[in-house]
Amino acid sequence: ETTSTGRVQEVVLAQPRGFCAGVDRAIEIVERAITRFGAPIYVRHEIVHNTYVVNDLKAKGAIFIEDLADVPPGATLIFSAHGVSQAVRREAAARGFEVFDATCPLVTKVHVEVAKLRREGYDFIMIGHKGHPEVEGTMGQLDGGIHLVEDVEDVAKVVVPDESRLAVVTQTTLSVDDAAEILAAVKRRFPQVREPKQQDICYATQNRQDAVKVLSAEVDIVIVVGSPTSSNSNRLRELAERLGTPGFMIDSAAELRAEWFEGRPRVGLTAGASAPELLVDQVIARLRELGALAVRKMPGVEEHIEFPLPKGLGDKSMAEA
Ligand code: F3S
Repeated sequence: ETTSTGRVQEVVLAQPRGFCAGVDRAIEIVERAITRFGAPIYVRHEIVHNTYVVNDLKAKGAIFIEDLADVPPGATLIFSAHGVSQAVRREAAARGFEVFDATCPLVTKVHVEVAKLRREGYDFIMIGHKGHPEVEGTMGQLDGGIHLVEDVEDVAKVVVPDESRLAVVTQTTLSVDDAAEILAAVKRRFPQVREPKQQDICYATQNRQDAVKVLSAEVDIVIVVGSPTSSNSNRLRELAERLGTPGFMIDSAAELRAEWFEGRPRVGLTAGASAPELLVDQVIARLRELGALAVRKMPGVEEHIEFPLPKGLGDKSMAEA
């Protein structure tokens, strides 16, 4: 029923795409905890924001909860990759859980910086999305003194006790371009503000956005594999649209719609940092059914970052035992 003009001709894969080192590590922590201690293992919040990953781990024996009151005494509890507030840490300790922390080391780095500068008397501006668990975790490192700004307008509303003791931190998965614009507004309003030595937006977010910039110039449509809750995946879709290429985000191949490809034969494909490559493969298979003859990879950055596992789970022989 489809005419040749309505068919997919080519699929172009973004490089890099998909899993980052923090996601890889977080999933491995849950899997190893299940192997070592047996099911069920409790996980506070979705370990990473991906429906497939969460369902797969549920099937293996993970139970996802938001409230620590739902975890039975003596249980093993894992904190998600997004990180947790000090209040959650204290509550977990008070309830006596065996805790493994799957917080991405690049989020922990921000937590450490906040605590250190606080001891030097700093207040903070945090650039991030209200309600995102990473923002709650980072803001919850302190009892106040972190002012959330979501956009340039918010910057004007910030009131701080001492402008010479003000530092800025960001969520790790923001739009690089939006964050730069907001940071510029922060610096105009607070010229003395202290910036992180290295930006808080992580390498994976930066690289995936850079790749979509290159990709969207070569294709008629960009498909992002990612779940609706995934911040970095949403940013990839938005970025394509901003560059003038229609962007669609899908949780699985089943969500692809043939009509999206009418008059858009060259399809760009990427995946958020929490989306498994298996889902990308399934999308490619579906695009082949819709006519794609060729699949090619964009040249791009090769990532070789790996984060060590927490003590007590990192021992290789243990996982093989
Ligand atoms: Fe960490 Fe960035 Fe991935 S903060 S979990 S490496 S998207």
